[in-house]
Amino acid sequence: MAPAFGGAHVVVPLPFNPKSLNGISERLIVSHHENNYGGAVKNLNRVEQELSRINRETPPFVVAALRDKELTFRNSKTLHEAYFGNLGGDGRRAGAIETALTQAYETSARWEEHFRATGMGLGGGSGWVVLGLELDTGALRTTASGNHTQILATSIPLLVMVMYEHAYQMDFGAAAAKYLDAFFVNIQWEEVNRRLERAQRASAAWGGAAG
Ligand SMILES: [Fe+2]
Repeated sequence: MAPAFGGAHVVVPLPFNPKSLNGISERLIVSHHENNYGGAVKNLNRVEQELSRINRETPPFVVAALRDKELTFRNSKTLHEAYFGNLGGDGRRAGAIETALTQAYETSARWEEHFRATGMGLGGGSGWVVLGLELDTGALRTTASGNHTQILATSIPLLVMVMYEHAYQMDFGAAAAKYLDAFFVNIQWEEVNRRLERAQRASAAWGGAAG
């Protein structure tokens, strides 16, 4: 298979012991990882295999549907890996991200208020909340997406929160606010700091200036 058609993505294991989260059960996080994330990886491979068979005879509506699903599954894979990667910590925010959030929002508590409110805006529905670094400006941006495909075009995810009900229903029912509390106490801020450093270097190479 030509590299452009891929079809060989593999599931990245959970980067923490699934028994170790505080207030999020092993059963929930393992189900989320295996079924929702694992399903996206499997489906991305299948879509890529279908895309490899496209030729000039393929009906345009078939190509359009495959392209739509390709983006859905690719972003689902990327965002789920970022989500699991920013869990497993002690929730204590420190270092460069704390400084950057304070500069951007005056206090990092104000950013947290905004991020949580954005999550609540998706509660009972589905989607993602992402704190990202915008490559072309170097600025921090909090964005919401009602599905896998409404992503800020040049944003590198720093902190990702799933707001699909499969991320909390099993443990919290419809109480999205309780899930937000549990999410925040398990954030791995050291990983967020590593992402921030890489994103700032990428933005500088891109020619972005904070603003
Ligand atoms: Fe998910």
